[in-house]
Amino acid sequence: MKLFVLQLFGVLLLGAILHTQARTTHHHTFIVEETPYTRLCSSKNILTVNGSFPGPTLYMHKGDILIVDVYNKGNQNITIHWHGVKQPRYPWSDGPNYITQCPIRPGQSFRQKIELSDEEGTLWWHAHSDWTRATVHGAIVIYPKKGTKYPFPKPHAEIPIILAEWWKSQIQTVLNEFLTNGGDPNASDAFLINGQPGEFYPCSKKNTFRLAVEYGKTYLLRIVNAAMNNILFFSIANHQLTVVGTDGAYTKPLKSDYVAISPGQTIDVLLHANQPLNHYYMAAKAYNTAPQVHYDNTTTTASLQYAGNYTPTSPVPFPALPGVSNITASVNFTGSLRSLGDAAHPINVPLDVSTNLFFTVSLNTLPCDDNATSPCAGPRGRRFAASVNNNSFVAPAVDVLEAYYHHIHGIYSDHFPSFPPLFFNFTASNISAVLQTPNRKTEVRVLEYGSTVEIVFQGTNLVAGIDHPMHLHGHSFYVVGWGFGNFDKNKDPLNYNLVDPPLQNTIAVPKNSWTTIRFKANNPGVWLMHCHLDRHLSWGMDMSFIVKDGKGSNEKLLPPPPDMPKCY
Ligand code: C2O
Ligand code: CU
Repeated sequence: MKLFVLQLFGVLLLGAILHTQARTTHHHTFIVEETPYTRLCSSKNILTVNGSFPGPTLYMHKGDILIVDVYNKGNQNITIHWHGVKQPRYPWSDGPNYITQCPIRPGQSFRQKIELSDEEGTLWWHAHSDWTRATVHGAIVIYPKKGTKYPFPKPHAEIPIILAEWWKSQIQTVLNEFLTNGGDPNASDAFLINGQPGEFYPCSKKNTFRLAVEYGKTYLLRIVNAAMNNILFFSIANHQLTVVGTDGAYTKPLKSDYVAISPGQTIDVLLHANQPLNHYYMAAKAYNTAPQVHYDNTTTTASLQYAGNYTPTSPVPFPALPGVSNITASVNFTGSLRSLGDAAHPINVPLDVSTNLFFTVSLNTLPCDDNATSPCAGPRGRRFAASVNNNSFVAPAVDVLEAYYHHIHGIYSDHFPSFPPLFFNFTASNISAVLQTPNRKTEVRVLEYGSTVEIVFQGTNLVAGIDHPMHLHGHSFYVVGWGFGNFDKNKDPLNYNLVDPPLQNTIAVPKNSWTTIRFKANNPGVWLMHCHLDRHLSWGMDMSFIVKDGKGSNEKLLPPPPDMPKCY
């Protein structure tokens, strides 16, 4: 008996050692600096991490810890965000400018500690100040815990596919210009696949991204949409894709000829190299439901190339991408995602909702500045704005988290409304211009620890209806339903999927439609929620949640690190 107990103790001890060993800490240094890059026949300095664009891919296992020393050697403020990483009880490393930290100023540094929890699949990191994320971004690959497996046969190889957007002019110039004139930002000049526009753009043939495959093998493509202002369609000629994950969570296998991917979102697909030996194009282009918006209508490509001895056909097969405003193609794809839900990855949809929120997401307009010499470039001579529940967020001078933690008054107020100030026909085609003007405030919504939250996002047709990819920091949420038009609180909840809805951190609310999400607020801290189209974010389509501490000792916000960037 004694021997058995001793053996059992030994096994437990060994288990504990293996368990702690299984959690690896990775150290990285991020040097943020200006680096010359040439694209589309012209050269400019862009902000990069460690000189590379896209930035370094970080490889980790589920539950690992990441420590990143960020050195700002550039000439502008910067913050770094770990998109989709929940950072349990530690919003100090989350990164959004003036929400959880003040910026790292040129010459300064900041050590960020990032703790993975249940995320598994693909996430990404990006700058979260001004529009610096255009070039400061990279993928985060999260493998299954050592000793556990993918819920699909192990792929022969894995390849990040990072979609992004390129302007010939300086990104800061684009930003300053539209914020000053009040109009739409200039459209980008190219989309990129892994940093390259592809051969349909000037001077780009030579460096186009090439993916070499062997016939009969299966590849895992980890697709990230790092574009600033566009949801994208992506497809590979003659090859069906099998979606197996999104936003760092597994999905039921979904076969599709294309994917629709929002800025912020990641989609993992299996590619079976089962077609005749040849070259095939892969391509991405914009999905845009607001025809009046200036958008980039170019198509980025890369090349899928089978190994072997053959001459590629001419022409090389090109994929059929859905049309630019094909909302059916977008919602059919996005609405077909389902959580995998196996023993190792259980589904926990909150069934009883303690906090019901109804958030309108709208474009708006504001009067042009009083001292402007000419009318603004927005609708009716006004300037564009955007809002959640008619609140257009104004960034404070001290970050919300610091003000919350240190009880600094007058930085924000906590009256963010649970409902819009006025209910009207949100998706009508003739909404009165009187309703266009939002409030400009720094408001947060406080959530009790452990509350189960439902948010109905209601897209509106104010100014112009368009899809809004809404992203929540610090939590993933279940997307339990969506529909065209106005939400009907009596009928629509009856059709919610509470069995296997997808677990995401970014969801596109389709144009003039509603989408419902549910999550458990079990992560104390300050967490930003915003539209991931950067022009909408710049116009104020963001708000923050404060999740209060719980009673348990491991339910409380952790203290800040000593080197938090100073606000003043
Ligand atoms: Cu991709 Cu606020 O984040
Ligand atoms: Cu938006």
